[in-house]
Amino acid sequence: MNLKEILNWRYSTKKFDETKSLTDTQVKNLLELTNLSASSYGLQPFKMVIIKDKEVKKSLVASSYGQTNIGDSSHLIVFAVRTDLDENFINTYIKNISEQRKQTKESLEEFKQMLISYFKNKKETALLKWASEQIYIALGTFLVACASEKIDACPIGGFIPEKYDKELGLAKYNLKSVVVAAIGYRSDEDKYQYKTKVRNPLNEIIVEL
Ligand SMILES: Cc1cc2nc3c(=O)[nH]c(=O)nc-3n(C[C@H](O)[C@H](O)[C@H](O)COP(=O)(O)O)c2cc1C
Repeated sequence: MNLKEILNWRYSTKKFDETKSLTDTQVKNLLELTNLSASSYGLQPFKMVIIKDKEVKKSLVASSYGQTNIGDSSHLIVFAVRTDLDENFINTYIKNISEQRKQTKESLEEFKQMLISYFKNKKETALLKWASEQIYIALGTFLVACASEKIDACPIGGFIPEKYDKELGLAKYNLKSVVVAAIGYRSDEDKYQYKTKVRNPLNEIIVEL
């Protein structure tokens, strides 16, 4: 399948086949692909929380406005912003660049100071907004990665983040949930897979200047 066919094959799965599960290797591969996503300055201010425990998934349905695909999915990925976006976080990023590109710390000093002063002046709400924007880019990459591996997914914004944070104990990991993706294999009974994709005609979403 070419990319267009793959993207047409993808749809937001409302019912997963509970008898089919993804392997740890498959999930790891998806997360590796998502880790290649672009992010502002390359800072990746988020983490991906993996949930495969059936009981935990089922218990989250109530905090997801009753969306049952949360419970029948193979895995749930909670995309969460880091709340520890401090100087130490930037230092770690600089260390990673230095090690992975074999660059001296001195050559990165100017970049580091720029990041520190840029983020120091940001209010917490602006910082969380910025971090959430990076998550949505990663979510897009994740959805395409799933489709390219013939794995079904449903992005889920319809959930109560405060409840997820509490139920999953995310505060102790310095995380706050932003968006969720349920993954697995589509059930034959999911009627949405047979529906035509509704999209704007291209000429309505393009402005040619
Ligand atoms: C950020 C985001 C949040 C979404 N939240 C939900 C959700 O809570 N429940 C749901 O069933 N679909 C959700 N969707 C899926 C959209 O409804 C879906 O992408 C859209 O209707 C287009 O259909 P398709 O993905 O099947 O092509 C969400 C999509 C995005 C990008």
